[in-house]
Amino acid sequence: MFVPQLHLGAWGLCALVILILARVLVRRLQILHFKRQTGAQHARNLDRPMGLFGLKFAALTIREVKAGRLFALLTENLRVSGPTYQTVVLGRTTLNTVDVDNARSILTNVTDYGVSNRMGPGGWAPFADGGIFVSDGHEWQAGRAMVRPALSRAEISQLDKVETHVAALVRRIPRDGHTVDLQALFLDMTLDSAMDFLLGVGTTESLTAAEAADKAAFARAVDYCGDQLMVRMRTPPVVRKLFFREERKFVDAALASRDYITQIVAKQAAKIELEKDQSGDSKGYILADELLRVTKGDQEETRRQVASVLIAARDTTALLLSHAFFALARHPDIWAKLQKEVAELGGRKPSYEDLKSMRYLKYVLNETLRFYAIVPSNARWANKDATMPRGGGPDGRAPCFVPKGAFIIIYLFAMFRDKNVYGPDADEFRPERWGEDLRPGWYFLPFSAGPRVCPGQQFALIEASYTIVRLMQEFTRIESRDPRPYQPRIRVSVASANGVLVGLYKDEKP
Ligand SMILES: *[C@@H]1O[C@H](CO)[C@@H](O)[C@H](O)[C@H]1NC(C)=O
Ligand SMILES: *[C@@H]1O[C@H](CO)[C@@H](O)[C@H](O)[C@H]1NC(C)=O
Repeated sequence: MFVPQLHLGAWGLCALVILILARVLVRRLQILHFKRQTGAQHARNLDRPMGLFGLKFAALTIREVKAGRLFALLTENLRVSGPTYQTVVLGRTTLNTVDVDNARSILTNVTDYGVSNRMGPGGWAPFADGGIFVSDGHEWQAGRAMVRPALSRAEISQLDKVETHVAALVRRIPRDGHTVDLQALFLDMTLDSAMDFLLGVGTTESLTAAEAADKAAFARAVDYCGDQLMVRMRTPPVVRKLFFREERKFVDAALASRDYITQIVAKQAAKIELEKDQSGDSKGYILADELLRVTKGDQEETRRQVASVLIAARDTTALLLSHAFFALARHPDIWAKLQKEVAELGGRKPSYEDLKSMRYLKYVLNETLRFYAIVPSNARWANKDATMPRGGGPDGRAPCFVPKGAFIIIYLFAMFRDKNVYGPDADEFRPERWGEDLRPGWYFLPFSAGPRVCPGQQFALIEASYTIVRLMQEFTRIESRDPRPYQPRIRVSVASANGVLVGLYKDEKP
């Protein structure tokens, strides 16, 4: 009786091995066929010791992220392995590129390349479990069709609201030149203003102690999740489960932030229901209200979209402002030139049209976005086998094969420093270059591009412009209080690791 059973077991094992081999073979043939058909070739491998299953490289990357040296590592990778190279860690292929044609082809093709894997294992869920930044296909289209018009309605009508938040910010800045960390204040301000625009939650000063405590806890949870996202996205789930103790903490923080938004959306929904019968519209624009209206009261969907927009809006605007002031504090000439433009308002608060017409301010904003690369990279996943125009083969000139499931990263921070595009002084902060016939095209994508271009771009630029102008009206002189060189802290967006330590003064007119 034993012998046939043993045979059966052996046969079973044998069949399994054959099945696996057959699958591998079929996949190989499939790829071969696809490559022959398209003329695409595999990208060059990164020229570095990768270790078993790429784990040595993965460990190096995590170490450099934590040490704030990720840009240096990536720059070195690009130098040794060319503008498009691939890395394979635990069977997952990552294609890394700074090739402008590849960037264009990836960002314009929302069918071949998606972002919904951001939600998959090890992704942003449950922190963001839906919404335009983590969905593809119909779900994304529907979300975008809701969020985009709602945001553009907000653009023009909201300077009064922004003023409220700027006034609160100004009250927190010492007027006697005492050192202050503007980055911390900007992060508070943009959280306040994002929550005001998105959810109708007023400034912290206007809340009860209990409400303020809830909001502070929410801010901490959001910060924590933001810190983790970058590393999570770059790490295969297996590695994270094995090496990251933070996993539990991430999920807890994510769920806490989600509950908070759920509660507020419910409150807003109840309020809308109450106000239905009353005529006239209420206190200005709130994104959650707009979304509740277009979704006919779908609180889940509203919560998802609001959370998605909140994550995208808050840090990026604060960090744009932070880096602008970091640079202004170190370049008195640029500060003086901008002050001159601001002075043309004669002390009056800027209108929407004023802000649109301030040329030098726009140069400074563009240069800040370029030089500090606030959003340093853009990532996609391949929904199917696909090709990019370049990067394949040993010399990188052939079309590049992109296997289904591959993770593709476009390194914007490196493209923003391309000397062929920005000139030999690309590594300097010089706003004037934007007045010199600079046409970077797809080499300058601070808000991404293509169908997924940031829907909040104008909104963010107006909020940042308004804030800069108002601060420069309140304070006529700035001093850097930090002799250390700039050090980036890289999350999904880039912060100054040492904050933005400055002293601000209002000098009397001579
Ligand atoms: C995306 O690329 C594929 C080829 O890989 C092409 O068939 C398709 O039309 C493209 N879609 C868009 C929207 O450009
Ligand atoms: C700033 O960059 C944008 C691209 O995002 C460009 O359209 C705009 O013309 C630039 N502004 C200036 C003043 O050069």
